Amino acid sequence: MNVNNASIKISAVSAAQYPKDHMPEIAFAGRSNVGKSSLINKLVNRKSLARVSSTPGKTATINFYDIEGKLYFVDLPGYGFAKVSKVEKAKWGKMIEEYLSIRGQLFQVLLLVDSRHKPTQDDVTMFNWIKHFSHNVIVVATKWDKLSNKQKSESIATISATLNLTEGDVVIPFSAKTGEGKEELWEILDFIVGNDEMAAGEV
Ligand code: GTP
Ligand code: MG
Repeated sequence: MNVNNASIKISAVSAAQYPKDHMPEIAFAGRSNVGKSSLINKLVNRKSLARVSSTPGKTATINFYDIEGKLYFVDLPGYGFAKVSKVEKAKWGKMIEEYLSIRGQLFQVLLLVDSRHKPTQDDVTMFNWIKHFSHNVIVVATKWDKLSNKQKSESIATISATLNLTEGDVVIPFSAKTGEGKEELWEILDFIVGNDEMAAGEV
């Protein structure tokens, strides 16, 4: 999809605040600082639609972005940030669980993992959680531009083994810096939200 119109719909802390219309939703999950907001900005060709910060743990709400009046991108709170208190962590966990458990219009979850490191226990838990709630998941390996060629060839294997991926699970390398992976992701997302005919017309 070629995005010209994208805007924040609401920053929600509870289900009562989620948008009431029934547009398809694509959710972005991952550790704090992994690059969720950067990925959203790159997909919609905007510098700062979703706030990017060098201070991890900034996105403490579920942010719904209206994309062309056709779908929502849903930026979930980043987990696993060590400096956040236990109470705060539990609150974020509940927010994410509530969203995943009740959202029927959630078409696709993108789980972002840092391509430079082995996925953490939190990443594994998140992956299993998404599957537990029967959502479709695509793994996105972020910060791909920071890897050497040797690291690139090892990264996907490490991610696949750690998350215990099986046939049919997809890992897409992505860089918010170079845009690598953007077209591939849009192809998949357009297909998922039923916008593929229009996408084909745009090529
Ligand atoms: P929270 O909102 O705290 O959960 O973080 P986030 O997952 O939204 O991460 P964010 O997009 O804010 O990015 C965190 C930092 O990583 C920022 O300094 C980004 O510029 C940097 N970053 C994100 N993606 C990439 C990438 O693909 N390449 C490089 N080189 N840096 C990236
Ligand atoms: Mg963010």
